[in-house]
This record gives sequence, C-alpha cells and structure tokens, in this order.
Amino acid sequence: MIQKSFVMMKPDAVQRRLMGKILSRFEEKGLQIVAVKLMQIDEELAKTHYGEHAEKPFFPGLVEYITSSPALAMVIEGEEAITTIRKLVGATNPLEADLGTIRGDYGMDTGRNIIHASDSPASAEREIGLFFDEDEICDYQIVDNNLIYE
Ligand code: RTP
Ligand code: MG
Repeated sequence: MIQKSFVMMKPDAVQRRLMGKILSRFEEKGLQIVAVKLMQIDEELAKTHYGEHAEKPFFPGLVEYITSSPALAMVIEGEEAITTIRKLVGATNPLEADLGTIRGDYGMDTGRNIIHASDSPASAEREIGLFFDEDEICDYQIVDNNLIYE
C-alpha cells in the first residue's frame, strides 16, 4: 500500500551538514519526497510532537535538543513507506542500529540520533498534520516509476 510518512532530520543532522546525504538515501531507495520544510521548531510543537514521552526522564532534554536549531521536516511517500523508512533509519540507539542505516552510520548517542520517522500509520497522519498544511504536500508522478515498481 502506498503510504506517506513524516520524517524529520533533527538539529544535529542540519548542524553537521548531513541533509544532502540523508535525503539521497531516501531518493536512492525509490521513495518520493512530497514535502520539505526547514523550520525552527518551538517548544510547544516539540512537546506536542513527542507528547507520548512527556513523563519520561529524557523528555526535557529531548525538547531542548529538538528546539536547539532548525530541523528539516519532510513527508516521504512510497510503497509501505512507514516500515521501509523505519528500517532505513535504524534503531533508536545509534550504537545498536545496524551499519548501513542512517543512525548506524552517522550517530553515536540516543540523545543525538539524527532523524525521526513515524512509527505507525496513525502516528504518520498525526505528525504530518502537525507540521504541514495540506497545500504544502505535493501530489505528483515521478516519470520513471515503472523502473521502481513493477
Ligand atoms: P523518533 O520518535 O525520534 O523517531 O525515535 P524512536 O521512535 O526511534 O524512539 P522513541 O522511543 O520514540 O524516542 C523518541 C526520541 O527520544 C530520544 N530519546 N532519548 N536518552 C534516552 O534514553 C532517550 N530515549 C529516547 C531520542 O531522540 C529518540 O529518538
Ligand atoms: Mg518515536
């Protein structure tokens, strides 16, 4: 099933000038970028986005990290995009993430783990709605889709 996922390069990825390399991984896989926005996330949005973790001890540090500098918010589309992107991203702790994944290749610490990706269809819908207006998401056909999908 074709799905949309919400993906966000966190401030460490932007500061480390990794945006181009990470974006390329999604493109090279055959996924389609349908929205991109560099944005300074404020405290309210960070707390809403990560609301499920509000009671966790790492929450204040997480909010501080996510609001520390701009992040690159994206919507990425493709067949089974939500699961596929979580696989490309790798485990939450970059030291446990497989090499070849984004976190496995670029990260060292759970608190600086480069990138976020939606973990379910319900999360994707909620998160896309938090970060994007409907008219910011492009609906278009990639011309070589017959080389990506049978
Ligand atoms: P994300 O939501 O950012 O895609 O990450 P995830 O699903 O792999 O992991 P999740 O459990 O949802 O945790 C959200 C983010 O909180 C930070 N974290 N820090 N210091 C810690 O123990 C700790 N645990 C989680 C990470 O930035 C993690 O991605
Ligand atoms: Mg999560």
